[in-house]
Amino acid sequence: MTRASTEQRARVEVLRNEADGRPALHESTVRSLHAEVKELPAVWLYDERGSRLYDEITRLPEYYLPRREGEILRARAAAIARRTQARTLIELGAGTAKNIRLLLDGLDTAGALERFVPLDVSEQTLRASAETIAAAYPRVSVEAIVGDFERDLGALPANGRRLIAFLGSTIGNLYPEQRNGFLRTLAAVLARDDAFLVGIDLVKDVARLESAYNDSRGVTELFVRNALTAVNRELGATFDQERFVYEARWDPEHEWMDIGLRARKAHAVSIQHLELDVAFEECEPLRVEISSKFRRERFELEAAKARLQVESWWTDAAGDFAIALVLRDTSAGTKVNSKREETACLQAARSAATSTRSR
Ligand code: TRP
Repeated sequence: MTRASTEQRARVEVLRNEADGRPALHESTVRSLHAEVKELPAVWLYDERGSRLYDEITRLPEYYLPRREGEILRARAAAIARRTQARTLIELGAGTAKNIRLLLDGLDTAGALERFVPLDVSEQTLRASAETIAAAYPRVSVEAIVGDFERDLGALPANGRRLIAFLGSTIGNLYPEQRNGFLRTLAAVLARDDAFLVGIDLVKDVARLESAYNDSRGVTELFVRNALTAVNRELGATFDQERFVYEARWDPEHEWMDIGLRARKAHAVSIQHLELDVAFEECEPLRVEISSKFRRERFELEAAKARLQVESWWTDAAGDFAIALVLRDTSAGTKVNSKREETACLQAARSAATSTRSR
């Protein structure tokens, strides 16, 4: 190995390894399978095969999200660099997604960027993508962290102006209460000069939303079914793919895509390592993921509740997807805050009225 390539290698810090996390994962799997709507924790989606399938999803014609997000980033990366002056770029849930490179390009060109910190639960995927980035951006030091964005925000490097990116509408995969907890924790760790950049998929025509998760080649179905394969392998379970149909449908009440499987017939599945038998009724759903879609007013209100402020809101030309630049709410005093909350409330009420009218 040459000296240059040694210098460009990524550093990887492991906050959580698989063996340490196993008891908690087993526990959350048991809890999810006992929930009112049975569910499998989404981590089961992202083994090596799952990560590869997800990568394929991001290239599907029906799955518009990454292209729309890329369009916005290409148009706004320079403005983001100017406004944030970020020296450290942190990416939460880094995975293999490519859009972060548009941001790296913008910040690197602006000249202030010193460090890139990708954080992901999957060590294997993270190591590979950290190496690729280190080789492509020789001026940037890559310090990857194997961790969980819901629990490890406090362990992120804290010196220098930071831009924390959360792309791909991954924020929509959290339940509302989880999202609220995440935003509050974020507000607590965000310094005055730091910024948060979040990719958000927007509420739109139901047919388009449903086709984004029901692609004609069936890649999304394979991705979701892979969770069963992973649980069979890792937990000694007896899930039989044939006994389930894939289903991804729009839930208008919660404004999220409900993604998972449905039992064709009543049957039981045993999960040896959890010492658990799970009975399914005919047609009973097994949820694997939710993917919430947002409206601007509602997101701003949620941010305000967590003491965060949406500084900029950019969408693609078609209005399918948004990127929000979010700062810590530094306005002091209750007066200003209550005024802001009132505004947000009125906005929420107005948007509810508009959507009722349009129904
Ligand atoms: N963040 C992505 C989304 O909500 C994750 C995702 C894409 C996904 N396709 C999926 C999750 C299919 C579960 C099933 O769009």
